[in-house]
Amino acid sequence: MQRNNAVEEIKSRCNIVDVIGRVVPLKKAGSNYKGICPFHNEKTSSFIVSEQKQIFTCFGCGATGDVIAFVQKYYNLDFLDAIERLANEYGITIDKSSFRKNEKNDKLYEINRDAANFFYKALTTKANAGYAYMKNRGIEPATLKKFGIGYADEKWDSLYTYLKSKGHDDSMLLDLGLISNSKGKYYDKFRNRVMFPIINTRGKVIGFGGRIIGDGEPKYLNSQESPIFLKKNNLYGLNLTKHDISKENCAILVEGYMDVISLYQSGVQNVSASLGTALTDNQAALLKRYTDGVILSYDADDAGRKAALRGLDILYGAGMNVKVLHVTDGKDPDEFVKKKGKEAFIELIKKALPYADYKIEHIKREVDIATTEGRVEFIKRAITVLKALSPSEADIYIKKIAADMKISEGAIRMELYGNDGGAVMNAQALGSGRRNPGAGSDAANMSGQASVPKAIKNAKPISAIEKHLIKITLTDASYYHKVAAYSYIFRNEKASAIWKAIKSVYREGEEIDAEAVREALEIGEQDVFDDIMKNTLVAGYEEQIYLDSVRRIEISEMKKRESEIKVMLSLADEEENGENIKELTEELMEIQKWINEQGGSQ
Ligand code: CTP
Ligand code: MN
Repeated sequence: MQRNNAVEEIKSRCNIVDVIGRVVPLKKAGSNYKGICPFHNEKTSSFIVSEQKQIFTCFGCGATGDVIAFVQKYYNLDFLDAIERLANEYGITIDKSSFRKNEKNDKLYEINRDAANFFYKALTTKANAGYAYMKNRGIEPATLKKFGIGYADEKWDSLYTYLKSKGHDDSMLLDLGLISNSKGKYYDKFRNRVMFPIINTRGKVIGFGGRIIGDGEPKYLNSQESPIFLKKNNLYGLNLTKHDISKENCAILVEGYMDVISLYQSGVQNVSASLGTALTDNQAALLKRYTDGVILSYDADDAGRKAALRGLDILYGAGMNVKVLHVTDGKDPDEFVKKKGKEAFIELIKKALPYADYKIEHIKREVDIATTEGRVEFIKRAITVLKALSPSEADIYIKKIAADMKISEGAIRMELYGNDGGAVMNAQALGSGRRNPGAGSDAANMSGQASVPKAIKNAKPISAIEKHLIKITLTDASYYHKVAAYSYIFRNEKASAIWKAIKSVYREGEEIDAEAVREALEIGEQDVFDDIMKNTLVAGYEEQIYLDSVRRIEISEMKKRESEIKVMLSLADEEENGENIKELTEELMEIQKWINEQGGSQ
């Protein structure tokens, strides 16, 4: 059966109500079914399954898709595994080979697999320097086997000779970076090294890292990028550890191969490494399939701290709950766990610093808080951290910093909200008239839409509302102006790039050419765009989803205004601002009443 046919067959045979109904209790509601969303915490049912349209949508968290998307998301599977699971459950036969898009890639995987077996045999069948080296580093045979660790001897052509005997092509070996060509002769790239196969979450060997035995340069040699190996898309060890990571709902992210291997051997198995490069958005997205909690455990040196700071922002920006730990003994987790053992490492995990604490601690280390200038500098920089937080998180840290630095909370709030373009924290604002909570356009203008600092834009994960409004506009251009009125909500960097592209392509009275929009985007933005085109489903529900989005935006604007007023009230002087206090209090009550009403009708 051809790929597309198989997908169609599955979609037509596996009723989404039946598939979801097995794991989520569903109640009939009109022509749809309703239930508690399995993808976020909620008490009321915002999760809708449409039997007619064969899709699910959650108005709470924005999860949406067809039956295959549900199985992928619910069971943490990729597309092909989801298809396979459904096919098995429903007794549908599919020819898996029809899913293989790319035969050349299959060949590349096969060659890497052969190479990995060759290296593993070399390490395990007779005495050799690689085995001795790993033994000396405390790695047990069972661990070597688990990770498929191997040995490349110091000869010039051991691997080449072997792979030729298997009939593989020179050009492919070159593509994979297993051999190089010098003056018409081929020789092995990896020599005198312990070999760590890098295996993706589908179990394919995509590349290698080779550590020199003893001293020498480079200490680690990694496979070059190839059609099957993109460093930025993969994490080391995840093939083995993804289930532990899911189970613990936490990934411990380390720098090196040996950190992963040692922690794993010691019993800390929810671990993975970022392949020696700076952590990328794609790696964060990959981890997010399995967990939304990450503990960064990078080396205790300066480079490790810098990498942790960068990684922190990437993970936070991907919407993850992220903490940092640095080992207190030894240079990295590998050394630490060998010296101190698993329990001691778990103690460190318990004490890991959350995102904001770590960033604030870092600033403290960099400035001299004993001096006035230092304290001013500290506040200035701490404010940039607070700005990336949600209001309730920020509130906690305002209190902490105030107590810690002996500065009034009001002053910090003033800095924080007063500097933010559209906010209303200055004296003039205290005197300004109140706003009418019911009026949509007015509400829309309250948001400080002026300028969102770049750092915050990066940190903002794309929201369901952003995806929905983009998709609605692309599906039906008559929504263009309606959505444009709320375009300030595109705060995620990629969402706002997509909106800009839509604006540039839009012609009054014509449908929007999605392909042209896509053309106008950078590659990373295109990925988000493709995801929206494929996975954000609005067809048939445009108006309902549009209205729901608008309502959510307005509620969030009102909540923002509510907290602004609270801050102003806490700062206002009863004698001087008596009149303002009265007005603000009335506005606050009106807003709270309005918010309550919205909640009541949910
Ligand atoms: N790395 C690399 N190329 C190098 C050095 C490092 O790709 N020349 C990557 C490897 O993935 C390595 C990680 O960065 O595992 C961390 O590097 P480092 O801290 O130097 O290595 P350790 O893991 O501490 O190595 P070892 O314990 O083997 O000395
Ligand atoms: Mn290290």
